[in-house]
Amino acid sequence: MSKVAVVFWSGTGNTEAMADAVVSGAKAKGADVSVYSPSEFSASMVSQFDAIAFGCPSMGAEVLEETEFEPMFTNVEGSLSGKRIALFGSWGWGGGAWMTDWEARCREDGAVLVCPSVICQEMPDDAAIADCEGLGAALA
Ligand SMILES: Cc1cc2nc3c(=O)[nH]c(=O)nc-3n(C[C@H](O)[C@H](O)[C@H](O)COP(=O)(O)O)c2cc1C
Repeated sequence: MSKVAVVFWSGTGNTEAMADAVVSGAKAKGADVSVYSPSEFSASMVSQFDAIAFGCPSMGAEVLEETEFEPMFTNVEGSLSGKRIALFGSWGWGGGAWMTDWEARCREDGAVLVCPSVICQEMPDDAAIADCEGLGAALA
């Protein structure tokens, strides 16, 4: 059974709704799924998982959330080389620029992005939920 971690931050619930769908998609494929807030996850845990989904909305000015998520991600990214990961998150007005930067950063870390990232404006609609389920399935 594939072990999948879903690590996400969400201020107003939009990325959380996406995370719920990622979890559903991975579980539907038979994965053993663990869900963490940023404060619960650290570099030493990366090796416990076959794949990791990271979720964070666009915050600040097209950056990751800076108080909890960014410190966690800075901590783990030195452990992501060769790791199968996928990214998701919600945005409000920027059109997704933060995700393009985040994907480039992950590639520089040597992470393997196993499927297209899923982004959506504010609350995910049915199509975005389906894409998140597909992301979870791809990681499983
Ligand atoms: C402090 C703050 C900064 C934000 N900065 C951006 C931004 O730079 N670009 C953007 O597209 N949306 C931005 N947003 C909008 C959020 O990304 C959007 O509302 C998203 O759906 C929030 O997801 P969440 O419900 O998971 O927290 C910002 C929201 C807040 C509260």
